[in-house]
Amino acid sequence: MSIEKIELIDGIKKFRQEVKTSFHMPGHKNKPNILDEIGNNLHDYDITETLGTDNLHFPTGMIKNTLESISKSYGAKKSYIVVNGTSCGVISSIMACTSPGDFILVQRDCHKSVYNAVILGGLKVEYLYPEFNREHGLNFSVSLEKLEQMLIDYPKIKLVVLTYPTFYGVCFDIKKAAEIVHKYDKILMIDEAHGSHLNFCSKLPPAAERSGADIVAQSTHKTLPALTQSSVLHVCSDRVDVDKLSRMLRMLQTTSPSYILMASVQRAVEYMDKYGEERLSKNIEMFRIKTKELRDLGVNVLTDEFLKENGCHAFDETRAVISLNDVGITGKELETILREKYKIQMEMSDLMYAVGYITAADDPEDIERLFDSVKEIYLDAKNDDSQNSRVYIEEFPHLTQEISMKNAFYSDNELVTTEESVGRISSDFIIPYPPGIPLICPGEIIKEETIEYAKSILANNINVNGIENNKLRVVK
Ligand SMILES: Cc1ncc(COP(=O)(O)O)c(C=O)c1O
Repeated sequence: MSIEKIELIDGIKKFRQEVKTSFHMPGHKNKPNILDEIGNNLHDYDITETLGTDNLHFPTGMIKNTLESISKSYGAKKSYIVVNGTSCGVISSIMACTSPGDFILVQRDCHKSVYNAVILGGLKVEYLYPEFNREHGLNFSVSLEKLEQMLIDYPKIKLVVLTYPTFYGVCFDIKKAAEIVHKYDKILMIDEAHGSHLNFCSKLPPAAERSGADIVAQSTHKTLPALTQSSVLHVCSDRVDVDKLSRMLRMLQTTSPSYILMASVQRAVEYMDKYGEERLSKNIEMFRIKTKELRDLGVNVLTDEFLKENGCHAFDETRAVISLNDVGITGKELETILREKYKIQMEMSDLMYAVGYITAADDPEDIERLFDSVKEIYLDAKNDDSQNSRVYIEEFPHLTQEISMKNAFYSDNELVTTEESVGRISSDFIIPYPPGIPLICPGEIIKEETIEYAKSILANNINVNGIENNKLRVVK
């Protein structure tokens, strides 16, 4: 795609013309019918905190009432609307459940917001590494046996932070995980950025907020039809200090929250309460038919059955995770072909997979269109003798934390070339984006294989934040 020098408004209009079917955020998929009254009257809805409205930081009126309805819908003790995305929800939750110097246990393939909380909160971190499956180039579920062992080995851990489902739709047994965490008297925080819809459809894996998690952060703009940036946070047990959480949110959120965003959360939750079960069920039905057709042809597309056969607990069947690696097409290439030839935009791609969101705003025909296009691309590539060779994804190399993340981040540092960085302590994050999972964290000693890994990602036109012009930041 050529990069033209156009500004935002023209750029957005151009994007709209180029994309016919969207499997990316926001979850309303730009279909006007769901948010219609809000979408069509933005100038009316854009009000602020004044006489007769409410205050997000100390809600007593319309915001409070909406939060109570959201809690009811999700079965939570208390809910918050977060207007700065789940990143803010995650950071506020972690900092509310800890004090500087505390240890937390973190699933290593978690989102960068978790790491940002470690720096901001002055925390110490232990990692639970997910089970990497080399054949499929994918992190499968975390092992609950390993989770328990970590809690035995590191009794100082105060909070456990797990991602459920992952960006790739993989789910562990959330009820069992909560039982284990509570057996050792720890707090369980679930980053459910990709799971705000689970609550609304009985065919999907259970929602964390109904399965024993103590605090849950969700991106309603990802898997619910709310506007971009709008998220929610649910407190589900007495293990969470809600007063401290409210104070953290007041510290980290704007004092001018958008009523448009907040209203969109109300509308999205109401929509899901009314239509979620029916619409998601129809989409899952089509998903099952089409993924079976593709798997019968030999295409590597993730399904619940396939993941269960491979030892995972469950799969979110609203996630299209497709690899044409076997016929020499990388995830990034698949994403590009879908966009340029079929006007379909996926959410993200890595070396092997292209990943798309399916939400209640989609219709079964959208899903059919996506998988039929993939089928066509696969068959064309299969019949083409000049196809590229298969790529392999390795597990992110495990690194040693030499100094604390916070000290490394605030240290005197310098920019060096990637070659010179080997053996040095990183002062910044190196993050392939998307999905936003750090390859290197501040304070870790950089290995040659990590740099090779980053270069292989860059060579496939996938962004790696933290490396610019072959340079990265290390501690002096
Ligand atoms: C697992 C996970 N957690 C948190 C976030 C942050 O969510 P938001 O973009 O709403 O800030 C993301 C974003 O992609 C994510 O993938």
